[in-house]
Formats: sequence, C-alpha cells, structure tokens
Amino acid sequence: KYEKIWLVFGITCLVVFLTVVGVSAFTDNHHTPAGGIEHIDPEKVRETAPFDNPGVTQLDDDTYQVSIIAMAFGYEGPELKVPVGKEIVFKVTSTDVVHSFTIDDTKVNMMVVPGQVTTKSYTFDKPGKYLIICNEYCGAGHHFMFTEIEVT
Ligand code: CUA
Repeated sequence: KYEKIWLVFGITCLVVFLTVVGVSAFTDNHHTPAGGIEHIDPEKVRETAPFDNPGVTQLDDDTYQVSIIAMAFGYEGPELKVPVGKEIVFKVTSTDVVHSFTIDDTKVNMMVVPGQVTTKSYTFDKPGKYLIICNEYCGAGHHFMFTEIEVT
C-alpha cells in the first residue's frame, strides 16, 4: 500500500516538474527582451513602422536607429550615414526569404527572417565606410546583396 503512495507521489512530482519547465519555456518565448524577436507581417513591411520610412532616424542624443528591408537582390533604404561613438540600433526584416545583414569588420552579423524584426545594437569606434553584405545564401540575388554604411 505504501509503495503505491510513493509511486503516486513520485509521478505527481514529475508532472509538477514538467509543468513548471514547460510553462517557463512557454513564457520565455513570449518575453521579448531587448534584442529579441519582434513579429511583423511580411506582406505589410512597407506599411509598418519603422520600415514605412527606412533609413537613419535619431532617437535621442546618443542613439540612432537604422531600419532596413532585406530582400533578394538588395537592401532597401536610403544612403546610410551614422555618427561614430553613438549607439546604433539596427532593425532589419525581410520581405521574402532568410537573409543576413552582416557589416564587415564588426560584430554585426544578423540573421534576417521574413515575419520577424531582428534588432542589434552596435557602436562604431572608427569612422569609415563599412560594407554590408548578405552572408546567408538566398538564391539568385545573393551575390547582388550589398550596400554600405558611412560612419563619420
Ligand atoms: Cu540575401 Cu544572400
């Protein structure tokens, strides 16, 4: 009889444990920490802020935002010019397939997924022109995907 009680107790503990693990995994998914995943309708990218007005926006004295749309054959956005030594928040999304947004000579190497906004903060410590390329093979347009950002 006691064995049965212990068995039930053991199973109950296991169930409680799995529930806790499951719930926290679920909750984590729905938490969007800074630099986490933000969802966007890939069909409505150009109507959704900040991609309705892509390019460089000053957020405050020390922070700038750069929003860019990635797609086969190129990145969409006006000429990119940002200041050195300020925090630059990159926000990138794709209207078609998975791309990357990789800035040469920096730690910026973002995976760009349709339906998501990828965010990454970076501060350039050297002025210059930096090449932006797609590191993720994305089809016929892959080798045409590059642009640059000027840091002054
Ligand atoms: Cu986009 Cu490779």
